[in-house]
Amino acid sequence: MTFSKQFPDDFLWGGATAANQLEGGWNIGGKGLSVSDVYTFDSRTPKERWLDQWLFMTRRQVADAQDPNSSKYYPKRKGIDFYHRYKEDIALFAEMGFKCFRMSIAWTRIFPRGDETEPNEQGLAFYDDVLETLLAHNIQPVVSLSHYEMPLCLVTEYGGWPNRKLVDFYVRFAVTVFERYRRKVKYWMTFNEINCVKHHPYVSVGVIEEDHPHLEQDKYQGAHHQFVASALATKACHQIIPGSQVGCMISYQMLYPHTCHPDDLQACEEQQRVSLFFSDVQARGYYPAYTDRMLAEKGVVLQKAQGDDEILRQYPVDFVSFSYYMSSTVSAHPEELEGVTGNLITGGIRNPYLPSSQWGWQIDPKGLRLALNQLYDRYQKPLFIAENGLGAVDTVNPDGTIDDDYRIDYLRQHIEQMKEALGDGVRLFGYTWWGPIDVISAGTAQISKRYGFIYVDQDDDGNGTQRRSRKKSFHWYQRAIASNGEQLAD
Ligand code: BG6
Repeated sequence: MTFSKQFPDDFLWGGATAANQLEGGWNIGGKGLSVSDVYTFDSRTPKERWLDQWLFMTRRQVADAQDPNSSKYYPKRKGIDFYHRYKEDIALFAEMGFKCFRMSIAWTRIFPRGDETEPNEQGLAFYDDVLETLLAHNIQPVVSLSHYEMPLCLVTEYGGWPNRKLVDFYVRFAVTVFERYRRKVKYWMTFNEINCVKHHPYVSVGVIEEDHPHLEQDKYQGAHHQFVASALATKACHQIIPGSQVGCMISYQMLYPHTCHPDDLQACEEQQRVSLFFSDVQARGYYPAYTDRMLAEKGVVLQKAQGDDEILRQYPVDFVSFSYYMSSTVSAHPEELEGVTGNLITGGIRNPYLPSSQWGWQIDPKGLRLALNQLYDRYQKPLFIAENGLGAVDTVNPDGTIDDDYRIDYLRQHIEQMKEALGDGVRLFGYTWWGPIDVISAGTAQISKRYGFIYVDQDDDGNGTQRRSRKKSFHWYQRAIASNGEQLAD
């Protein structure tokens, strides 16, 4: 018996983005407002606030954002102007040797309100061009259908995903883009970080917290509708695009019990299930055995339509993808311990053995190997790392270069652990670094939380030339890809 730590020859190396964080052009080409177009950034707020800023939303903020005379700065509306610069940006991705590029199609470019019966041709044409540009560079597109950017109208006029009508709207959107891009896109993801509804229901299922007194009920009801919508989209995708591959996408943090006390392990297990519940349904095609108790203890009673369970069972996803940035520990008595910062999970406890990023996210490459093994053991389906990356403040040297060795170290250590997981027998077929070019942060609406190999000259208030330049990590990743993950030294 032998084993190999080598990446398969056709491994999909690349980078990941989302339309609402890089495109800009928020009111061009017939685009409608999305839930993410509503976030402001105010650089005068104290640093502590942006360390732990939350994707929480109020009715007032939404109303302000709909005011055409508002003078506030909405960073996700500006993005980094990929809308006009995608040719230049994709050429840089190609120069790095990308085999794939994960992007999302903004629902609001195709159906600006979300409930129309006819799509917006200008929006469809835009993505035709983006996809053709990628393919011309031999870059395989990996497309997310919904990445925290559902149409705002579906929130304000329909109350978000707790309303079953959204299943039909989403499926119409999905079918429209499958038909249009059937010759261009093989890999699809239905909902970005579907499990994050727990932490930020507004961008995930479109509920404004203050409007939903039974928030837990509405979150899980919204999630159920997303499961059904995802399964129906998977069915349609397979029918329209033979050979296509559809994945679920969860945010995954490796969790460790804070101590070896059995109560901590139990708490850890329960916390992990809060995330894995989502991929359990989407990958296995049914609600897991622990669902009844978990939902009952939250006071949730799901309303399922006749046939829903059958739909879930018949159309599970083909692969499991996930984002991985950090790990944390879980205690049965968190109130006595030091919490960890991070926009993805609350209640996590700081791990004394791990360093943290400038935003307090605990860096844990070995946790990635553990995560890959856990997910593969659980589902036995191919895995795709849809996001992994380090948000950091970069300093531009007087000659314009950027020595981001911290980013290189992070990347190297994570790739090394991916190789270990391959050696463990895990089937991993792709890796997309989050934000290969600096984009607006999802959690804090900053650009100074930079992930890119490509620097964008723009600040948190939207000033700058938007000129692109290569960081040191650009050349490092280029070598790593060219050697298929073998050349990881400096
Ligand atoms: C993931 C999201 O949660 O994390 C991305 O899918 C996001 O949209 C990424 O950008 C990093 O988070 P942040 O808040 O640093 O942008």
